[in-house]
Amino acid sequence: MGAPRIAVIGAGAAGLATLKALADARVDAVCFDAGEQVGGLWVYGAPDSPAYRTLHLNTSRARTQFADHPMPADWPDYPDHTRVAGYLHDYADRFGLLAAVRLRHTVDRVTRTPDGRWTVRATGPDGPTEVTVEAVVVANGHNRVPRLPEPGYPGDCAAEQLHSHAYRGPDQLTGRRVLVVGGGNSAMDIAVDASHTARRTLLSLRRGVWVVPKYLLGRPSDTLNGALARRLPWRLRQRVTQAMLAATVGPPARYGLPTPAHGFLQDHPTLSDALLSRLTHRDIEARPGIAAFDGDRVTFTDGRVDAVDLVVWCTGYRVEIPFLDPALLGDGADTLPLYRHVFHLDAPGLMFVGLMQSTGAAFPLVEAQARLVAAHLAGRYAPPDPATQRAACRAELLAATARWGQRRPAMRVDFDAYLAELGRELTAGARRAARAAS
Ligand SMILES: Cc1cc2nc3c(=O)[nH]c(=O)nc-3n(C[C@H](O)[C@H](O)[C@H](O)COP(=O)(O)OP(=O)(O)OC[C@H]3O[C@@H](n4cnc5c(N)ncnc54)[C@H](O)[C@@H]3O)c2cc1C
Ligand SMILES: NC(=O)c1ccc[n+]([C@@H]2O[C@H](COP(=O)([O-])OP(=O)(O)OC[C@H]3O[C@@H](n4cnc5c(N)ncnc54)[C@H](OP(=O)(O)O)[C@@H]3O)[C@@H](O)[C@H]2O)c1
Repeated sequence: MGAPRIAVIGAGAAGLATLKALADARVDAVCFDAGEQVGGLWVYGAPDSPAYRTLHLNTSRARTQFADHPMPADWPDYPDHTRVAGYLHDYADRFGLLAAVRLRHTVDRVTRTPDGRWTVRATGPDGPTEVTVEAVVVANGHNRVPRLPEPGYPGDCAAEQLHSHAYRGPDQLTGRRVLVVGGGNSAMDIAVDASHTARRTLLSLRRGVWVVPKYLLGRPSDTLNGALARRLPWRLRQRVTQAMLAATVGPPARYGLPTPAHGFLQDHPTLSDALLSRLTHRDIEARPGIAAFDGDRVTFTDGRVDAVDLVVWCTGYRVEIPFLDPALLGDGADTLPLYRHVFHLDAPGLMFVGLMQSTGAAFPLVEAQARLVAAHLAGRYAPPDPATQRAACRAELLAATARWGQRRPAMRVDFDAYLAELGRELTAGARRAARAAS
């Protein structure tokens, strides 16, 4: 291997897919990861990992696996975190990526050199180290920094409080009166865990979400959407899926949950088989948003009052890239316009893999982003001129805001549409690169 031309920050699914694509394109790279193993958040017990003992994929094996490395066919449709972490390690091993990864190295600063290159400083067990490279690929993940309600709810809360990031397993809930807050996948899983071991489980949602079972019509639900996606625009898929949900599980209100104000596919999907069943057993009791705390008592917006010992805030994550100059991040990493969700508009050589939120699985998307990055660095893909890139970002943001509202529109992608778009982009960019070279 020659001197690295590229630095990749993070060796989770996104960083590993980037290393694989770079290796295929014969572009030498070095990768820094703060953890002790590759695999990112799927490594249960890694310092920054939110993984808990009962965590499984909620996207199906068939729709989650990398195209370059299928998951074993005899695995369950929804494998657990241990299998997923093992799968990512096998991927790195099979394609000879491990030698490029410097584990236990935390990148703390990335700066531009006067000649347009990048210096990456990382601190490892032997102190700080620096590399100067042609380009940097940021793949640091965005489910690492807990987001707590801000401002907090009125009143004093005497109950113990925990963010889902610090949740490791059902033992933390045993025998307690637990209030789980949120309508995302962390809230669903933790409420279900609590319903088996806690003394009482309340689930508070401040707005409605569509809870999709992991199977619809006898198949993993996301495979159904995938089959539809190849033929139908999302508005039609929305109608079909909502009709299917109405026919199979009925309206959320039937379970005591608030009615969603938005349609399915206009929010991050919330998947759970067990939640609906535990609600129907009253092993989980649904509550609306929180109005106030008073000691161990919580008042909800419908006026009900309950006593709790433990509040688990499943209120999501903040997107942070602390090692980059804030000037490069504009109003924040979650609003940063990136051409095709990959290329920084003003800083050539600065690319991102994984800085998006998909309606489906993440791995095939980071794999496709990584191929674009590698083709670019190998001279086989050129993005369009800056004005065209900006116009594309503006148009995309408008469409995303119309669909997802203010829920992180800059980061949203529709799994199938985006995968197809990245394929077209690779072809168009190859033509641009060939024209520029001739
Ligand atoms: C609880 C949970 C469950 C999920 N379930 C699914 C699912 O079922 N299906 C799905 O497709 N997606 C799921 N996701 C989304 C998940 O983000 C992706 O599956 C995938 O793990 C993203 O990979 P990544 O490489 O972008 O990020 P990560 O896996 O978070 O990896 C980022 C890596 O960057 C490293 N890093 C960060 N900062 C630095 C630094 N400064 N210096 C050096 N290294 C650094 C970290 O150590 C880490 O190894 C889930 C997310 C969560 C939180
Ligand atoms: N494989 C799995 O089974 C699994 C399990 C857990 C997580 N995940 C993934 O991990 C990522 C993070 O999921 P997550 O559930 O932790 O976070 P999330 O998807 O961001 O959901 C956060 C939830 O908290 C609510 N919330 C935010 N601030 C609040 C406040 N101040 N008061 C009350 N509610 C508030 C949000 O409601 P609003 O929308 O109204 O803000 C939302 O319902 C997602 O990609 C998810 O799919 C997957």
